[in-house]
Amino acid sequence: MNKLRVGIIGCGYWGPNLIRNFSSCPRTEVAAVCDASPERLEKVKRTFGSLHTVASVDQLLETPGLQAVAIATPVGTHFPIAKRCLEAGLHVLVEKPLAASTREAQALADIAAKQGRVLMVDHTYLFSNSVRKIKDLIESDALGELFYIDSIRINLGLFQHDVNVIWDLAPHDLAIADYILGHAARSISAWGCAHADPNIEDIAYVNVDYGDRLMASFHVNWLSPVKIRQMIFAGARKSLIFNELNSSEPVKLYDRGIDVASAEEEHRVRIGYRSGDIWSPNIDPGEPLQAAVSHFAECIANDVPCISDGAVGVRVVQLLEAATRSIRAQGGRIALNNGANGAGNGRAHWPNPKNAAVNAMPPAAALAGVS
Ligand SMILES: NC(=O)c1ccc[n+]([C@@H]2O[C@H](COP(=O)([O-])OP(=O)(O)OC[C@H]3O[C@@H](n4cnc5c(N)ncnc54)[C@H](O)[C@@H]3O)[C@@H](O)[C@H]2O)c1
Repeated sequence: MNKLRVGIIGCGYWGPNLIRNFSSCPRTEVAAVCDASPERLEKVKRTFGSLHTVASVDQLLETPGLQAVAIATPVGTHFPIAKRCLEAGLHVLVEKPLAASTREAQALADIAAKQGRVLMVDHTYLFSNSVRKIKDLIESDALGELFYIDSIRINLGLFQHDVNVIWDLAPHDLAIADYILGHAARSISAWGCAHADPNIEDIAYVNVDYGDRLMASFHVNWLSPVKIRQMIFAGARKSLIFNELNSSEPVKLYDRGIDVASAEEEHRVRIGYRSGDIWSPNIDPGEPLQAAVSHFAECIANDVPCISDGAVGVRVVQLLEAATRSIRAQGGRIALNNGANGAGNGRAHWPNPKNAAVNAMPPAAALAGVS
């Protein structure tokens, strides 16, 4: 099997993880590594040995037989670098979030479609066995009707200089919700505050209305003394908690909740409380980034649908952009003009990723005004 020859662009904090995974994946090889910083390239050489290193994207594009790139540079540089590489005929894996605005993200998805190249966003959690198990459980109706999602992703730092805490941390949780629910959000509102750098929010609470009484809350924070990575998916029948930091039992199902019986003669509902078993499925931890890298290679080699394609990236960026706008509007609700606000069940579904064509998702929704 011919290995996919990949160039890695950006080797600061996250890039070395891409180098390690593209090097160890049987389907891929690292053709060259690019970083604007000579110190970073020196460190890569010390860690990984005899890799070909270059100082610019221009030089990288001259690498013989280069077929794809993986981009792990600051968010503001994703668009120009990814555009350049797609237009040079390369397949592109971009770190989350896809770009710094919905307009840029949609432009990248459009260029990839025009060029017939795979554009994938590294929403790493979509390749986590825990998240896949949760999706299976919810799709098999194990939880019943979903009432809410409550997500907490907090720790001390790492402070970013170019994006706020929402753009840094919330892409993970918003991508998980996008993947598991398979339908668009209707509106979003967010509170946030900047303490260290006056222009960069370091704590935020993001509330998303997914329609049909399904509400979601995402708390992201760089100022927490403790690290918490937890998502609660609460349903009418059962609820589950995803605690990423619990390596032996990351997903727990709770047969706990309420039973509602209407007692019309009393003119009020009767609430009964259920407290049943707690169950934890056996989940192979695997390495999500290795699965992501392998999926990228598989999409290119066999033209299979990409579960984290440009359209997913656009939808996540749209939510990040709207959340930041809402913060600046003192928490005002931003309606998302994605066709999900009309009649029916109030939800605009997109094709199940398992069946979707690569980069063939619906176009990005335009943002409506603050209400
Ligand atoms: N998937 C994940 O779980 C995950 C985790 C962390 C970070 N990330 C993402 O990875 C990306 C990078 O984050 P980071 O924390 O590694 O940033 P970083 O600042 O540590 O590293 C960025 C590197 O890019 C280099 N660079 C900048 N512009 C360049 C250019 N034009 N050409 C070549 N090199 C250039 C810098 O010299 C630096 O070494 C971000 O998009 C971030 O959101 C993803």
